[in-house]
Amino acid sequence: MTASPISDLNPLWMALGAEVVVTSAARGERRIPFNELYVGYRKTAVEADEVMVKLVVPLAGENEYVRSYKQSRRREDDIAIVGASFRVKLDPETGAVVDAGLAYGGMAAWTKSAVAAAEVLMSGEKWSDALVRKAMAQLDSVDVPLAPNAPGGQVGYRRELAKSFLYKFFLYVSVESGLAPVEAREITGALLQEHKPLSQGRQEYASSAFEAAYDGVLSPPVSGGVHMPEMHASALLQATGEAVYVDDIPVAAGSLFGAPLLSSVARGTIERIETSAALALDPSVAVYTADDVPGMNVLGAIVYDEEVIVSKEITSQGQLLGMVVASSADLARLAARKVNVVLTEAAPDAPELVVTIDEAVAAGQYMSGGNKMKSGDVEGALEGASHVLEGTTYVGGQEHFYLETFATLAVPVEGEQMKVYASTQNPSKTQKFVSRVLGVPSAKVAVHVKRIGGGFGGKETRTCPLSAAVALAAKLSGKPVRCMLDRDEDMVYSGTRHPYKGVYKVGYNDDGKILGLDIDLYSNAGFSLDLSGSVMDRALFHVDNAYKIPAVGARGWLCKTNTPSNTAFRGFGGPQSMLICESWIDNVARELGKDPAEVRAANFYEPDATTHYGQVLTDNRLEAVWGEVMSKSEYETRRAEVAAFNAAHRWRKRGLAAVPTKFGMSFTAKFLNQAGALVHVYQDGTVLVSHGGIEMGQGLHTKMAQVAASAFGIPVSDVYVDETATDKVANTVPTAASVSSDINGMAVLDACEQILARLATVEGVAADAPLAEKALAAHLQRINLSANGFYKTPDIGFEFDPTGETAGSGMPFNYFCYGAAVAEVEIDVLTGDHVVTRADLVMDVGDSLNPAIDLGQVEGAFVQGMGLFTTEELIKLGNGHVFTRGPSFYKIPAFSDIPSIFNVSLLKDAPNSRAIHSSKGVGEPPLFLAASVFFAIKDAVGAARVDAGLGSGAFDLHSPASSERIRMACGPVAPELE
Ligand code: MTE
Ligand code: HPA
Ligand code: MOS
Repeated sequence: MTASPISDLNPLWMALGAEVVVTSAARGERRIPFNELYVGYRKTAVEADEVMVKLVVPLAGENEYVRSYKQSRRREDDIAIVGASFRVKLDPETGAVVDAGLAYGGMAAWTKSAVAAAEVLMSGEKWSDALVRKAMAQLDSVDVPLAPNAPGGQVGYRRELAKSFLYKFFLYVSVESGLAPVEAREITGALLQEHKPLSQGRQEYASSAFEAAYDGVLSPPVSGGVHMPEMHASALLQATGEAVYVDDIPVAAGSLFGAPLLSSVARGTIERIETSAALALDPSVAVYTADDVPGMNVLGAIVYDEEVIVSKEITSQGQLLGMVVASSADLARLAARKVNVVLTEAAPDAPELVVTIDEAVAAGQYMSGGNKMKSGDVEGALEGASHVLEGTTYVGGQEHFYLETFATLAVPVEGEQMKVYASTQNPSKTQKFVSRVLGVPSAKVAVHVKRIGGGFGGKETRTCPLSAAVALAAKLSGKPVRCMLDRDEDMVYSGTRHPYKGVYKVGYNDDGKILGLDIDLYSNAGFSLDLSGSVMDRALFHVDNAYKIPAVGARGWLCKTNTPSNTAFRGFGGPQSMLICESWIDNVARELGKDPAEVRAANFYEPDATTHYGQVLTDNRLEAVWGEVMSKSEYETRRAEVAAFNAAHRWRKRGLAAVPTKFGMSFTAKFLNQAGALVHVYQDGTVLVSHGGIEMGQGLHTKMAQVAASAFGIPVSDVYVDETATDKVANTVPTAASVSSDINGMAVLDACEQILARLATVEGVAADAPLAEKALAAHLQRINLSANGFYKTPDIGFEFDPTGETAGSGMPFNYFCYGAAVAEVEIDVLTGDHVVTRADLVMDVGDSLNPAIDLGQVEGAFVQGMGLFTTEELIKLGNGHVFTRGPSFYKIPAFSDIPSIFNVSLLKDAPNSRAIHSSKGVGEPPLFLAASVFFAIKDAVGAARVDAGLGSGAFDLHSPASSERIRMACGPVAPELE
């Protein structure tokens, strides 16, 4: 009755010829056939005084066939892009259609009956492929035509789906009735989307380090020290909901709640901000704007190029225009809606609004900060190659979608002192922003982070200005102010992973050997620089993924657009650039008619090879992870099985892909590679550890407790990590780049060793006495039981050559992480639907500090990467409006997207001499392994294209491989109608 145009059920009622019985007190009952029920967008023929009392559904009779179809962005919890229901009644003697009902959702402003197509079917002709194709021709021209700018977009895809569904129905009815011949290889086209079987998986880890820690006994040693699979320290609290996040901190009496005032347009000039209607709501309401900032208002992550609160010029939707406070969160939001921001829109002669990379490139709108590099004779390599492939790959952005949105509580203490509790990866930058905006010394600002509900890079910098605005409200009101963003606010304010475009030229020989690469990388930076320069640097360092390319020319371009400022996201430019690399590798293989896995392996870096920026790959483990994943996944056997399946099926295709990865570990900005720790030993022998890193679910605190437990030889339960705070460990770097356990672990160890050295001087206690005994004695002997530890990563630091004519100098990375994955998918050629049937991963994490946590990180990163490369599609409109602002349109992976078979192994006996206890960082490197799913999809699409007569050579598939992109790449079902 809501007349939803994308209802799943209404097309079914309509196709069945159902009727609605409505009644009113005045006129009594009447019947409305379903195909007369809908009269407009969200309008029915039901009068205002009528209610529905009955739905009459005719039963299907003999020789009557009914089927419903639906395609959405994601299988679970998603509305249809297009839905359809079809019914035909056939005369078994003549094969003619005697009755038909065809109905579509998602093709118009209301559920539509395809009357003209039904009439064609009922023309008396015998049921056949030709007849159904004639009916199909009515869809786009008469029944459900879509204008090129139809609301909902995806116009070409929706037209294709409308026909494809009818074709699926043709196949189904033909098979069931036996009235039209269907080739065996076409039968799967008749199938509905299947429910996924129960998932299964295997997690494997083993190493000498683990076995030594385990000591051969059946239960783990009590210590729970390093290399043990300790449970995440707050796992139970998080599972029960007792774990405390910012918004769980009890509300102090007199507290105010903040709501952000965000720009609703992508561009404009603020003339004035009228607050009277908001202020009239309640005496507790106040509105703070740029005029109220006592200190600095122009700040930024690296370059100060953005206002914390916009004073005049709006350059993106979602910019902060003010902070509204009130005695409740609802009241604050209501007040924010009553604030009237009076704007002058851009003058008619103003330059075009710029939203996409291509628009920015056309307008030449770049920010400074994009580096470039060149190694080897690129021109010569391209000239000397037997083949040169040119192409373009787009990689879309990604919303962080952490469970906890941006949240800050600011508590004025006394005088100028401010305590801030923030959901951030960057307490020190939060402190700096608060101090600058308030005009208060840093020493009077303390920032506390107990844990955050996910960050994924989204809270590395973008939280800082919002926290400063909350602190501003606290300072000006003199009361504690808390603000937690709603999801839609967070999605328009916080920025995303950078969309990328790669334009490449690659030279190669007949054997698949790559000789040279020339590439321009463009990123959509948004309205300000933020970390876009560093993200591009990492992208430039990863244009090679895992391959030796003798000559590389690579240039980074940072596009300035009228969209939210984009920022760090797990992998930090690496995944984007590596996906572009794997796209051209895949296309080189297609051009040569080789398996992409073969071309990949043929170009692997050899042990001790040198990258395009001059770093030697000591401990290169590509061959090890690749060999293991190829054999564990039984790649060769399954390659043959996939080929056999594809030969036997026209409308279902399987795809298989193996993808390696190599990820450089360190912040690429040298000064960030430092960490501090503060360790206290108490007289009862328990230990409180503070360090510079924050806990975002990745298990950092658990690992740090293990490091301290091992150092002191005590059970991990005797070590506590409470919170991260700028008044305990100062001048910290963001928790990012996956090196937090490396660098904070070393700092913790340094502090523990200082205390251990002092404990060794305690008199009158046995060397093997329990820590409690030693600590008490030490205290009585006036020995300091606290220590401040510090670490800086040695031997690193890279400088780009500003001319871009050389490879630059120095080593950007401390070491590399390696991994490889094999994924298999099955796609529905007619709808673009896909399922991941199996994924096998092998990841090198050194001698894992905690294999249970590391397996979780590998699995989590992989699934997050699957979202990036498949279902997660950000939509921004031409006027710069952010369309994807919540879970209804933005689709992160759901339960049934997990691979049906999901096997993860940590590479065995792979110690790393360059990090704490021979471990490696793990957070980001495995994310890119999800590219195996993307290229498995591309492999399946390639098979469909051959059948569609589109040939077997290179073709473009851009990321994300949405159902739309998959369907459209497979070719039309009825080419004669295009
Ligand atoms: N895991 C969880 N559960 N939640 C997160 O927010 N962030 C990822 C990764 N794993 C994240 C996560 C990102 S982007 C990084 S850089 C690393 O964790 C940071 O933590 P580490 O340095 O301790 O690995
Ligand atoms: N990785 C992640 N985050 C960062 C980096 C990096 O290299 N540099 C600055 N922030
Ligand atoms: Mo991670 S993107 O370095 O926070």
